[in-house]
Amino acid sequence: MPTIALGYCDKVDVDLAKKIAQQWQFEYIGDAAAAKHRQDIDFLLQVDNQTLSLKKLDEPKLGGVLVDFVEGASAHRRKFGGGRGQDIAKAVGLKHGFTPTVLDATAGLGRDAFVLASLGCQVTLIERVPAVAALLENGIERALLNVETATIAQNMQLQHCSSIDEMQQYGEHDIVYLDPMYPHREKSAAVKKEMRVFQTLVGEDLDADKLFEPAFELAKYRVVVKRPNYAEPIAGKKPSTSIKMKKNRFDVYVKQGIPKA
Ligand SMILES: C[S@@+](CC[C@H](N)C(=O)[O-])C[C@H]1O[C@@H](n2cnc3c(N)ncnc32)[C@H](O)[C@@H]1O
Repeated sequence: MPTIALGYCDKVDVDLAKKIAQQWQFEYIGDAAAAKHRQDIDFLLQVDNQTLSLKKLDEPKLGGVLVDFVEGASAHRRKFGGGRGQDIAKAVGLKHGFTPTVLDATAGLGRDAFVLASLGCQVTLIERVPAVAALLENGIERALLNVETATIAQNMQLQHCSSIDEMQQYGEHDIVYLDPMYPHREKSAAVKKEMRVFQTLVGEDLDADKLFEPAFELAKYRVVVKRPNYAEPIAGKKPSTSIKMKKNRFDVYVKQGIPKA
């Protein structure tokens, strides 16, 4: 298990840094600069201007990983991403008049969940890695404070647990969405820098096949699994249909037809 500590960059962030450290049980080191003198820390979570980010201390050039739904790629996709015509929207069955509830059982940095929430879906997000859940919660909280993203963030409910054992407690959802980590083929230099930090922290989700059964049991209409194009289907289960994209595909497992509007 990597050692993760948490600190602040500026005194204005002390209260938030302490609150997050206490909530998620990270060691609190005060000023983030103190991490330089600590050889035993692998990852540093730092609060800078109310924004939480994660750094890998032995590779400082990789930069920090953070969740930003207000600006950057998520904002661009919200404005210009193609709305209900996007592949992910087709995969979860968003049709005129039908807006499913979605349980995203492998939430990660919440990008897919944010797309679905921006299309009106109520999304339950489950993430098991505490540092990732903390980044996600901080991103949702900041999105709630922005006029353009507040109503979308209100559609997102984060839970911290393992979906394999505990997804049932969140009740039936129309769709269960799965996007576990898959062993990467690309040489590590080709993987985006921030994703390298994320991948080293999270690992490869080697138990991902175990997600399928509880997901299929819980979903009312379908389970959607995002996979790299070269990957086998989850748990060796043949999907009802697949939607292919440039690098990935959505495998769709239908339980019953989506209601017609
Ligand atoms: C590839 S990332 C998901 C990316 C996400 N779809 C996005 O758009 O940002 C996979 C995430 O699922 C989480 N995960 C894997 N298995 C899980 C489980 N059984 N319960 C909860 N979270 C899990 C991992 O910790 C990781 O953060």
